[in-house]
Amino acid sequence: MKTALKSSVNRLLNAFDVHVTKKTTFYNLLAKEAENDNLRRALTGVGNDRDVQFSPLENFNHLATLGLTKRRQEHLASLGLDLVNRTVLEVGAGIGDHTGFFLDRGCKVLSTEGRPENLTVFRERWLRQFGWYKNIHNLEIAQLDVDHPPANFARTFEVVYCYGVLYHLEHPLTAIDFMARCCTSLLLLETSVSFGWEEKVIHAEEDRANVSQSIHGQGCHPSRPWIFSRLKERFEYVYMPVTQPWHEQFPTDWTSKVETPGQAQRAVFVASRQKLSSPMLVDHLPDTQRRM
Ligand SMILES: C[S@@+](CC[C@H](N)C(=O)[O-])C[C@H]1O[C@@H](n2cnc3c(N)ncnc32)[C@H](O)[C@@H]1O
Repeated sequence: MKTALKSSVNRLLNAFDVHVTKKTTFYNLLAKEAENDNLRRALTGVGNDRDVQFSPLENFNHLATLGLTKRRQEHLASLGLDLVNRTVLEVGAGIGDHTGFFLDRGCKVLSTEGRPENLTVFRERWLRQFGWYKNIHNLEIAQLDVDHPPANFARTFEVVYCYGVLYHLEHPLTAIDFMARCCTSLLLLETSVSFGWEEKVIHAEEDRANVSQSIHGQGCHPSRPWIFSRLKERFEYVYMPVTQPWHEQFPTDWTSKVETPGQAQRAVFVASRQKLSSPMLVDHLPDTQRRM
């Protein structure tokens, strides 16, 4: 084992014309490697891949997640919707990585999340660490389970923001009902979907220990037609963008199923109480979309 490691280290170092000949040098390298590993654990609080899923900070700060968030929000900004100085309800907010998009635009935001450990980190980051942020007084944070929303919740918001949440729900229709009830202008919905032209919802088990998944251990993959029709029943106008974010999980061709093992296929929906006239939106399910 050590010999194999030594020869691969040597192979690497050969490229730089360096050779590990002394046993002590080799053991020093191993010690350095262990030291680096300890440092990594101390700095990140994480020991292995599975820990990453359990820890709110590590999970949501993963480069893959941050990249997905950036691509989705630059796409949202490109749609030219009126998102300035509005009242916003955010659901399934995680640790609040999307919330600044609305706060920076002068919105008053009630940001909600179902999982207590995410809320703890959310409050710590936004209310304590970033308590000096100029628009912090526009932010309220609360626990809300959108699978089982409180029947007596009577507040309404101009914008309801539901990105990355619907497919982690056991009862997607209950959540859509709730969000439609709270929404006086725009519902912005982004979710993983299943391919196909039938209205269907595929239910799937999820790992509830993973802090970015279903809090009840049960998720779903609705088809685009199912989502579009359910929104149409509750909103006067329903649109889809002509563009998709610059991200591999957002297909641009819905005419043939592309196998993406282990990867979600995602889509964005805009439901509205008012008619929207925008070259960025169509009022039907497009066969194809383009990159923004
Ligand atoms: C994939 S993360 C999405 C976070 C963020 N909205 C985003 O798009 O990056 C899903 C979030 O939904 C939360 N969640 C899962 N089930 C929920 C439920 N029934 N009610 C509210 N939040 C829930 C999870 O705890 C997690 O924070």
